[in-house]
Amino acid sequence: MSKPVYVTQPALPPLDEFIISLKEIWKNKILTNNGPFHKQFEKELADYLGVKYLSLFANGTLALITALQALRITGEVITTPYSFVATTHSLWWNNIKPVFADIEPNYYNLDPEKVEASITPQTTAIMPVHVYGNPCNVNRFQQIADTYGLKLIYDAAHAFGVKINGDSILNFGDLSILSFHATKVFNTIEGGAIICHDEKTKQQIDYLKNFGFAGETIVIAPGINAKMNEVQAAFGLLQLKHIDENIAKRKSITDFYKKSLSNVEGVKIIDGEAGIELTYSYFPIFIDENAYGKTRDELYEELKKHNIFGRRYFYPLISQFPTYRGLPSSKPDNLPVANKIADQVICLPIYPELQQDSIKLICGIISHKQN
Ligand SMILES: Cc1ncc(COP(=O)(O)O)c(C=O)c1O
Repeated sequence: MSKPVYVTQPALPPLDEFIISLKEIWKNKILTNNGPFHKQFEKELADYLGVKYLSLFANGTLALITALQALRITGEVITTPYSFVATTHSLWWNNIKPVFADIEPNYYNLDPEKVEASITPQTTAIMPVHVYGNPCNVNRFQQIADTYGLKLIYDAAHAFGVKINGDSILNFGDLSILSFHATKVFNTIEGGAIICHDEKTKQQIDYLKNFGFAGETIVIAPGINAKMNEVQAAFGLLQLKHIDENIAKRKSITDFYKKSLSNVEGVKIIDGEAGIELTYSYFPIFIDENAYGKTRDELYEELKKHNIFGRRYFYPLISQFPTYRGLPSSKPDNLPVANKIADQVICLPIYPELQQDSIKLICGIISHKQN
């Protein structure tokens, strides 16, 4: 049987380029705490993304936790059950009560109308996720946040480089969070960032990620250790040189999947929206078992038999995990779309080095041409 094909495989910079950077770090003897690679990477990444203020983090989860601290969010936050657990865990680690609202049926992002109906006197913020990198309804969310005096924090872990009418998606809301985990479009092995819109907020975030230190003897808050180190930053700088090429490869895989699967009865794929520049982080398909003639799990197992390992992102819903399932907002009748979609989804393998024969095999199995 052919080699296993997983949902993703990390893109790596050329090893010889990385060795040159490592030699530089060995020479500098600066390993962390805003060293030269960190400074350069922070600047070049902000320029690449088209954002003004960006703070690097050790990972996306610490960025989410720190973002909530930076805005002093308390009480209740309305969020989506259809995401990776870290989105809701960041609320729990801040002693904030998550309130789940349902997702909309086109892009499977948090539904603004369901959010509005979930606001209580305890609500302080909304935390939507740009799921699979498809933008949330950013204008409607801003309108709701403005009307009710709420903060808006986007989990943009899937949305590296995504643009809306030429503007970075990270420029919407109060803060946005990125993840540079090995599985993401852009990785620094582990890593993340917070994007904000003014220097004062960036300063506050930078203090918080370094224990709250604002000077040699000054600690302004109970901060955390969430700093990105020099090795990660040097790795990230090299990744930036190759990112456009990697995104282009993801696009051509996406185009092939779309062309091959768009007419398969019972298989739904997400259509792009006009004016949106995507970076193709995931390729989810949604199985309607009646029309397809098989359940999602039957197809998932069949792919596995051929050594193809898709992932059911996001199943189970966050609201179904033990920590959260007792919450009133976790009840399935509050989240009908999310429950339905979680039972239909499989994310197919997508990464720059994915081979054409693997893509053809995957499409053949899904379109019943290969058994
Ligand atoms: C939507 C979402 N939020 C948060 C995270 C957490 O990021 P990290 O793994 O960098 O901590 C991830 C992925 O890992 C994610 O997919």
